[in-house]
Amino acid sequence: MKFSNTLIFWYLQNKRELPWRKTKNPYFIWLSEIMLQQTRVAQGLDYYQKFTTNFPTVFDLANADESTVLKMWQGLGYYSRARNLHFSAKQIVSDFNGEFPSTFKDIIKLKGVGDYTASAIASIAFNEPTAVVDGNVYRVLSRYFGINTPINSSKGIKEFKELAQSLIDKSQPGTFNQAIMDFGAIQCKPKKPLCMFCPFSESCVALQKNLIEVLPVKEKKVKVKKRYFNYLVVKTKDDKTILTERKGKGIWQGLYQFPLVEDTHMITKEELLASDIFNELFPNDVSISLFNKKDIVHKLSHQHLYTQFWVIETEQLYSANISWKSIEDYPVPVLIANFLEDFKLKN
Ligand code: ADE
Repeated sequence: MKFSNTLIFWYLQNKRELPWRKTKNPYFIWLSEIMLQQTRVAQGLDYYQKFTTNFPTVFDLANADESTVLKMWQGLGYYSRARNLHFSAKQIVSDFNGEFPSTFKDIIKLKGVGDYTASAIASIAFNEPTAVVDGNVYRVLSRYFGINTPINSSKGIKEFKELAQSLIDKSQPGTFNQAIMDFGAIQCKPKKPLCMFCPFSESCVALQKNLIEVLPVKEKKVKVKKRYFNYLVVKTKDDKTILTERKGKGIWQGLYQFPLVEDTHMITKEELLASDIFNELFPNDVSISLFNKKDIVHKLSHQHLYTQFWVIETEQLYSANISWKSIEDYPVPVLIANFLEDFKLKN
């Protein structure tokens, strides 16, 4: 049997009875879909009743004070949803005479409405065959078809949307969309899915290949740390500088660099002059200038290094024992090699 037929057959026997499923009113469906974002159905129910009772039409919502709307939303969280709802209600009244936009293309223009919500409203209220893709849909499709493309990658977002779109029942798109979401929520659950009693057990790739626990795949987004580097580029009267080897486990182990003052923010010359490292290195007067007027941002996979190079001209210095002529013999990070290229050109 076709995927959509099996799915809808399951839905007709197992679907949840929900108040917004008894209406074709796009305004009510819009309310329910916005409320159900980041909210469990059980919690959304009370709020749906409150909103539809107090604001039975889009005109009532548009005419309400924002504080009344926010008060009624209290406890649902993510308050920008309520503010966008109110804003869009006023827009529907002023721009469309209170008539709810009736196509995906127009619905998605409403503030706070993205691909998922526009697809849900267009399909449920207006029978437009636009497939929804929420967390449930990702799970059902990735398992059934054995797809391991990360669901939070741009490739995955496109691939799953196209797949859902190719499967949708064009004669009853709203039913198909709600069926696949309910199937994901009730049967093909994240933990302990009910595979023993599943109408897809014969053809589900994840079940055959024992991949239920690994699908769907989510890419780990690396959190990029910002660091602020100040390199002290010494130039003595006898043409020497200071380079030190980076020790320890961090980035660039074993490579050489100029003395480094790291801070939690981009520092000024005054802050640099006040730092311990600076004062230990240069107890006497020196001339100091910032080489790069705009900070250089060196991007590594997990870190962005905001870097300033300070050129420090001074008399002979005991600790400056590397001659500028030999500097190219030392292995240095690309950040420093690039600086040296620039510096050579300007000196
Ligand atoms: N989650 C959000 N909207 C839904 C709907 N209309 N049906 C099933 N699950 C949903």
